[in-house]
Amino acid sequence: MSLSRYKGYTTIEQLKESEGKEVTLRGWVYNLRGKGKLQFIILRDGTGICQCVLFQSNVSEEIFQNGKLLTQESSVMITGKVVPTDKAPGGFEIDVTNLEIVTLAKDYPITPKEHGDAFLLEHRHLWLRSSRQHAIMRVRSAVVKAIRDFFDGNGFKLMDSPILTPNACEGTSTLFETQYFDLGKAYLSQSGQLYAEASAMALGRVYTFGPTFRAERSKTRKHLTEFWMVEPEMAFFDLNDDMDLAEDLVEYIVKFVLKTCQQELKTLERDTTMLEKVVRPFHRMSYSEAVEWLQKNKIPLITKVDGKEVETEFPWGEDFGSTQEEAIMEQFDKPCIIHRYPTEVKAFYMKRDPDNEKVVLAMDMLGPEKAGELIGGSQREDNYDLLLERIKHENLPEEEFQWYLDLRKYGSVTHSGFGLGVERTVKWITGAQHIREVIPFPRMIYRIVP
Ligand code: 4AD
Ligand code: MG
Repeated sequence: MSLSRYKGYTTIEQLKESEGKEVTLRGWVYNLRGKGKLQFIILRDGTGICQCVLFQSNVSEEIFQNGKLLTQESSVMITGKVVPTDKAPGGFEIDVTNLEIVTLAKDYPITPKEHGDAFLLEHRHLWLRSSRQHAIMRVRSAVVKAIRDFFDGNGFKLMDSPILTPNACEGTSTLFETQYFDLGKAYLSQSGQLYAEASAMALGRVYTFGPTFRAERSKTRKHLTEFWMVEPEMAFFDLNDDMDLAEDLVEYIVKFVLKTCQQELKTLERDTTMLEKVVRPFHRMSYSEAVEWLQKNKIPLITKVDGKEVETEFPWGEDFGSTQEEAIMEQFDKPCIIHRYPTEVKAFYMKRDPDNEKVVLAMDMLGPEKAGELIGGSQREDNYDLLLERIKHENLPEEEFQWYLDLRKYGSVTHSGFGLGVERTVKWITGAQHIREVIPFPRMIYRIVP
């Protein structure tokens, strides 16, 4: 794309191309410091932050006085010479020759002092301008680009799944419901997977990428009610192929961010030692091996009985919670895939292991550094009768799944896929404390505004 239409304006990101030259930047005042004949304007323009030095003797009196009128988050156009410096972030500063105020901001509510979480969340529309949030959003953008590049570059086709759906995919307890004209209830999609399966039978290797919804009652640091998920689905892939692909994808994303987001990771003060170790092959263990490990290491199952927490030896058959996941992951410095979970704790569409009826060919990838579950996936049940049995067993409406069963009727093949949570991945890579920081406008059980 030619940028000549925007001739005359430079972005902070591009300053190094203009060393020694005069440029005009457009942006907002991030911070200000003044002393006597000098005014330091810390300008942000969306691409970065740059110090602009307004020296009284270099400009007219009017311009200098305008500089003194500036307030935090006022919008301005600043012209000046690009001078290298090792003192300022980004490596360049501007010797100001002209300054034009676009709009003066009054009493910007977010100041450099500390603010509480509730205040910042209420002001999310402005909080996004802060340097940490800005850096997180840029990493998020890089993660999404890495995902798209990875799949597009490996012969996958993007096949969008609908968001309004007539049925559940991931259990009926977390469905957002709405009335759909005269056709009854519709639900916001919990996952695009079922449609991705149909798409894979048409195009071979596909991915669906979009927002997904879970009416999660949990108030953890890892749950949103609206989150983005990428879901590849591949015809003729078995569980092993699926796990290999998941490793390839995660390795690719981390490498891409390390390569393209050094500045952002520095702003976030992210120690990248562990991220640099994210190289295939990752660790793998079966659910049964993981349970044995938990028992041997005395990591209990914690349940509530009459409001009191009770600890018991972790029994085979229970699903893992964050206590177990974090304990298992503490021994590893790169992700670990746990496979072959008990049938009862996993979704209806997963294929049972032909070698052990009690488990399904499922896999979860857990991240190190308390990242939790990054990926959930499986080989799918491809036998019509067995799938129908599972649908009935889960009391799912058979008619609504007729089209899904059709896929097992007309040329059914081994196929697999998985879903990677974008926010879980960004939270892990950025080291953000809470998942609400890694999506522009978080949706949580207790918040829908702004
Ligand atoms: O393990 P989940 O529920 O798997 C599925 O939805 C499958 N249908 C995917 C597939 O096989 N195509 O979710 C997949 C991932 C999780 O590993 C996690 O990263 C993320 O989605 N995730 C959430 N992220 C944020 N908030 C929530 N409430 C999440 N629930 C799942
Ligand atoms: Mg899962």
